[in-house]
Formats: sequence, structure tokens, C-alpha cells
Amino acid sequence: MPHSAVPPFERTPRHVAIIMDGNGRWAAARGLPRVEGHRRGVEALRRTIRAASEIGIKFITIFSFSAENWSRPAKEVGELMGLLRRFIRNDLAELHRSGVRMRVIGERVQLDPEIGRLLVEAEELTKSNDGLTLVVAFNYGARQEITRAAQRIAEKVAKGSLTAAEITMETVSECLDAPDIPDPDLIIRTSGEQRLSNFLLWQSAYSELVFVPTYWPDFDRAALETAIREYQQRERRFGGLAAKTGS
Ligand code: IPE
Ligand code: IPE
Ligand code: MG
Repeated sequence: MPHSAVPPFERTPRHVAIIMDGNGRWAAARGLPRVEGHRRGVEALRRTIRAASEIGIKFITIFSFSAENWSRPAKEVGELMGLLRRFIRNDLAELHRSGVRMRVIGERVQLDPEIGRLLVEAEELTKSNDGLTLVVAFNYGARQEITRAAQRIAEKVAKGSLTAAEITMETVSECLDAPDIPDPDLIIRTSGEQRLSNFLLWQSAYSELVFVPTYWPDFDRAALETAIREYQQRERRFGGLAAKTGS
């Protein structure tokens, strides 16, 4: 699709977060192994990153592996790890060329050292890019992230650099995994499930949620644009009054 076809979005969400769900069901519906759904999911991810960049979205966060996904069979966990490794090896240079800055949130300690190295390499290589910021939530759980923040705050209090009374909402935000990334304006979940599954619980306080029936491997630019249009029809009030009745 040529650049001129970019719709004139008036209120383009600055940060879109996506729960990429439904790979297994996509595969099952076709009599294919689940891993085939995950493979096609990587292609949907490539399309979505390209589209987000063209639409003018500044930040995109993708939920690629949850802290709870370790409970899946070892074979599937291994396949998902392999796909992440391959995604970084194959796509990092191209992402870098197109100005994407990559960030990773989630717990790194339990990860295979090779994956840990690849994640650091991706962040290091792309850190000065000023295009789309791609935040990869990998081995990520929001309650775990908030717990890590609580530990960081407790350390500051123990050291004496902060008192309990000085702890504010900003203190908590600053101790999360990526404090410089703004909260998501829009969270999209594919596959028809309507839950957050431990994704960005702190940051989603005022996000608009859009649930779409599409399985992730079928997600594309048109589906992203439909979700953005739905977002644009919402009225974000943040606890205040609607703009037209607020006078
Ligand atoms: C999303 O698809 C990918 C991950 C959670 C890693 P699923 O694998 O959850 O697919 P379904 O929900 O079983 O269809
Ligand atoms: C959420 O999907 C995690 C990712 C998309 C990576 P799940 O498929 O793991 O969520 P549940 O188990 O249906 O809540
Ligand atoms: Mg799922």
C-alpha cells in the first residue's frame, strides 16, 4: 500500500499495546500444529510494525511471552523461544535500518543467556533511533513488574535516599521496567478473549481497550486501522467531564 493511502487520523494514538492472542486456535482451525500459528504470528507482527510506523504511531508494545506461559508444554515453550531468537537474528538489521528503537520489558534473570544477550544487543544497536519504539514484553507479567518496582523502592528507603512518606505514584511509575515510555492510549487484544492476562496493569489505568475477534495470524493493517477508528470514537474523560458538558 502506498504511503499516500495512510488515512488522515486526527487523533492517532501515540502508544498502542497489543495482546497477540489466538495463534493456537488459528492453527487448530486449519488442522495444523500450534507452532505453525506462532510462525504465522511472526509474519503478522512484521506487518503490524510496518503499518504502525506508516500510520505515525510512536510506541507499540507487543505481548510476546507472558510470565505465565512457562506453564505450557516444554516443546511449545522451546518453539516460542526459538521464534524470538530467529525474529531478532533475522529482523534486527531491517528494524534498525527503518529507524525502529527496540526496548524489552519483563524479567530477564530466568532467561536463557543467549536470548538475554540478543535482547541486550537489540536494545543497544537501536537505542539512538528516533522512529517507532517497539517495546517487546517478554517473560512479562504486570504483577511481577509492580513487585520488582516495590523492591526497588524498598531498597531506596533502606538506603535512606527516600522516606516512606515521599513515595508517590510517580515513584512507582519511575521504578517500572520502562519508565520513559508513556502509558498506552489503546490496548488491542485479538482472538475474542476479553481480559488483560496480567499485561500492563499499572500503565493501563486509563487505556481504551479494544477486543477484536480476529486471530493474531490474520491481523493486518486494515484490522489495526479498524481498531484505531474504534479508539477515535471513544471519549476519554480521565474522571473529568465530557468536553461538551464541561463548561
Ligand atoms: C498467543 O497465541 C501467543 C502466545 C501466548 C505466546 P496462543 O498460543 O495463546 O493461542 P491460543 O490462545 O491458544 O489460540
Ligand atoms: C496472553 O495470552 C499472553 C500473550 C499473548 C503473550 P494467553 O493466551 O497466554 O492468555 P490466557 O491464558 O488466555 O489468559
Ligand atoms: Mg492464548
